[in-house]
Amino acid sequence: MGPSLSTVISEKDLHKRIKEMGDVLTDKFKSAPVVAICVLKGSFIFFSDLIRQIECDMTCEFLSTSSYGNNAHSSGEVKLTMDISSSVQGRHVLLVEDIIDTGLTMSYLQKMFEIRKPKTITTVTLLHKPDAKKVDCKIDLVGFKIPNEFVVGYGLDYQNQYRHLPYIARLENLN
Ligand code: IMP
Ligand code: MG
Repeated sequence: MGPSLSTVISEKDLHKRIKEMGDVLTDKFKSAPVVAICVLKGSFIFFSDLIRQIECDMTCEFLSTSSYGNNAHSSGEVKLTMDISSSVQGRHVLLVEDIIDTGLTMSYLQKMFEIRKPKTITTVTLLHKPDAKKVDCKIDLVGFKIPNEFVVGYGLDYQNQYRHLPYIARLENLN
């Protein structure tokens, strides 16, 4: 039997929560320009929807990390595979992640950006698996807390598949 999908967060619930998150971030950044940073690949859809709900002066940057290789378990090693293309020194940074699982990626990125001396760092994630946490990292805003199970859709993948699903689904019967 191949993998099967069951809905964890519907398209409607995603959009409702992302609008709320946008309002919180509008309040935070309405008087100060922000550099919004998309952590590729998983965050690309969340990032696109979220930034359109934030009313402020904004520039967008993209970086890429890898930690999972090709399977459903973290390798425990984070690599920066593509960096942003401008300086964040003295600027407000908004780091946008799809999901925080072990916390390794977010903790790695926070350390990397602290060295670059931004004015502030705000971290946002659509999903958080609190039970999977291995290392501490600062998370300012969470979309949804979810149980420690593998999910796909809305940007998140399994072996680069399922990113295009408009909702978050649990992937069952993985071998
Ligand atoms: P962490 O470093 O373990 O916190 O994991 C961070 C990255 O692993 C996320 O940005 C995702 O790209 C990926 N990831 C973690 N959990 C899942 C999942 O359930 N589905 C798909 N990707 C995941
Ligand atoms: Mg990610």
